[in-house]
Amino acid sequence: MPVIAVIGAQWGDEGKGKVIDLLAEKAGVVVRFSGGDNAGHTVINPFGEFALHLLPSGIFSSQTICIIGNGVVINPAALIDEIDLLNQRGVDTSNLAISDRANLIMPYHILLDGLEEKWRGGKALGTTGKGIGPAFADKVARYGIRAGDLLDKEALLERLRQVLDYKNAILTKVYGVEALSLDEIYQQYCQYGERLAPYIRETTVIVEEALNREELVLLEGAQGTFLDPDFGTYPYTTSSSPLAGGGCLGAGISPTRINRILAVFKAYCTRVGEGPLPTELKDETGDFIREQAHEYGTTTGRPRRCGWFDAVAARFSTRINGFTGATITRLDILDTLPRLKICVGYQLDGKTIDYFPSSIAALDKCQPIYEELPGWQVPTTDIREYEQLPPQARQYIDRLEKLISCPINLISVGPERGQTIFKTPIL
Ligand code: IMP
Repeated sequence: MPVIAVIGAQWGDEGKGKVIDLLAEKAGVVVRFSGGDNAGHTVINPFGEFALHLLPSGIFSSQTICIIGNGVVINPAALIDEIDLLNQRGVDTSNLAISDRANLIMPYHILLDGLEEKWRGGKALGTTGKGIGPAFADKVARYGIRAGDLLDKEALLERLRQVLDYKNAILTKVYGVEALSLDEIYQQYCQYGERLAPYIRETTVIVEEALNREELVLLEGAQGTFLDPDFGTYPYTTSSSPLAGGGCLGAGISPTRINRILAVFKAYCTRVGEGPLPTELKDETGDFIREQAHEYGTTTGRPRRCGWFDAVAARFSTRINGFTGATITRLDILDTLPRLKICVGYQLDGKTIDYFPSSIAALDKCQPIYEELPGWQVPTTDIREYEQLPPQARQYIDRLEKLISCPINLISVGPERGQTIFKTPIL
């Protein structure tokens, strides 16, 4: 059985949770490989409706081992709350494993996330405030504390003392706020360690064993391609790689093992937080899409910015991820619109370009060039066969397929598992 990576192809919130939940029933293992509790994966299934921030979206399938990979930064308090919530609602989480190499979010990360945003003033990034950037910065600066450190209290104290000395110097001398207490953090993280110890282990071996048993392995991305620190709209990005390549690093799996890379695109675009969104609609169509689709952040509740489908960005996303197939989600949101637009190029400094510029200054100046298509103006939420879609909806999907240059495998016409059209096989 293969490895399928499920990747956010736009600015996050594309509906990866639904796709993973749908595929997880057949999977032996699901690995969440990037981000932290900045993510919010919405899943609606027979257990009810859930917003998952850290737990892999395969957690509802009891025969599937769900791994929080080494590439994720974990806020232990948020994870324990999420486990408790699911248990209270009848979901068994004993199938969870946490990589001992995953870095932890510490109280100073959350504090510094807020302080750094304030420091940026008018140029604030609009982060989720969950401490994600400071935690990943510490990981590469080698100040991180990892899940495995929770298993050895003496070593944890030693490490925390060393790191906190440095963090407190920054908090007090740069930001002029109070130092944090070593004892309080230590006691708290010892408690988290006791609670999470049964789940923490070497996880790459679990993936290896599943592959040897020929089971399906899913890599679950968080955020989306244009929030990638290298290829996204830097510096308005997140701090870990949501790309297919990030899946290898964040799950501890060789690139040669990945067989399929499944993009998740919304039928239009959204973005939450600051930074360029070339097709943004600051008009009543944008407001209509936001309200119709309830486009508000799952993690922060902030209104999402909405715009037309951007095929220039999508083509770039296909190139750097190597998508072998795509899912188009939320097609039903467009059901009532009389005309639809797809961005097929940009106008930049009087020239037409067909590539996604790397600089945000250039992106800010890009004017979308649109192609217009007729809307279908009939409900699609009950349709399950591609051929049953109205001709204008098929025309829209066919056009997207050509523009993004990869086959469309799935189309989602509503939030529930069943509201899915299987257009072509993923495998
Ligand atoms: P951070 O990841 O909290 O540092 O936020 C950096 C940027 O990424 C902000 O613009 C956030 O709104 C955005 N972001 C982070 N996580 C998500 C997500 O799961 N979906 C959409 N945007 C996100």
